[in-house]
Amino acid sequence: MNKIIETKDLTKFYPTPDGYLKVFENLNFTVQKGDFVGIMGVSGAGKTTLLNLLGALDRPTRGKVFLEGEDIFSKSEAGLAEIRNKKIGFVFQFYHLLPEFTALENVIIPLLIRKNDFNEAKEKALRLLKEVGLEAKINIKPNKLSAGEQQRVAIARSLVTEPVLLLADEPTGNLDWKTGEGIIKLIKNLHKEKGLTSIIVTHNERIAEHCDRVFLLEKGKLIEKI
Ligand SMILES: Nc1ncnc2c1ncn2[C@@H]1O[C@H](COP(=O)(O)OP(=O)(O)OP(=O)(O)O)[C@@H](O)[C@H]1O
Ligand SMILES: [Mg+2]
Repeated sequence: MNKIIETKDLTKFYPTPDGYLKVFENLNFTVQKGDFVGIMGVSGAGKTTLLNLLGALDRPTRGKVFLEGEDIFSKSEAGLAEIRNKKIGFVFQFYHLLPEFTALENVIIPLLIRKNDFNEAKEKALRLLKEVGLEAKINIKPNKLSAGEQQRVAIARSLVTEPVLLLADEPTGNLDWKTGEGIIKLIKNLHKEKGLTSIIVTHNERIAEHCDRVFLLEKGKLIEKI
């Protein structure tokens, strides 16, 4: 047993003008090292809310998340930021690349923020861009790249810091089927090669078929589909 994530009674309510909105309550699940997990559920089910908690981007109303055995919400904001920086890679539906910078610069920046040596950072970024098939586009800015290419840059950026956990929120949600399938296959290959643990949120059954375990978030409960 090698647990990467374990949740204990994870609960999130949002305050609204009409009282609290219960998104989910008492979620208990574990993710083992090497798992390639899909999370499905209708719009508004709370998939992004859950991913944000697992990625230490937000705090729960109640309950705990253990990441590699560490109770992450016992930490200060600075402690959470350190966990995000050191352990987690994020991929989003709309890439969130920096428009002023080239593909290569977008992938280098997370390493420079972590005070890596520039030449080493550049070498790592180049290697990752090659792994996602973008060697020929390293000096191009995001607005001159296709949607699928932008997502490849975002994937390279998420992995250049060597995270233990990859969290992807609808990584294929903005892409046509063929491009989206290429992206999920790429993520899965990188997941295997790098010994990652990955959690992929998706609306799409055919994308979820690439996952080894699939959970459905529905009416505030998380159910593993068999
Ligand atoms: N910051 C917030 N404050 C108040 N309510 C919120 C906040 N963020 C999300 N919600 C509400 O919580 C519920 C879950 O939202 P969430 O974004 O997690 O759903 P989702 O499953 O990711 O949906 P989608 O598939 O559309 O991305 C929704 O009803 C949403 O309106
Ligand atoms: Mg969402």
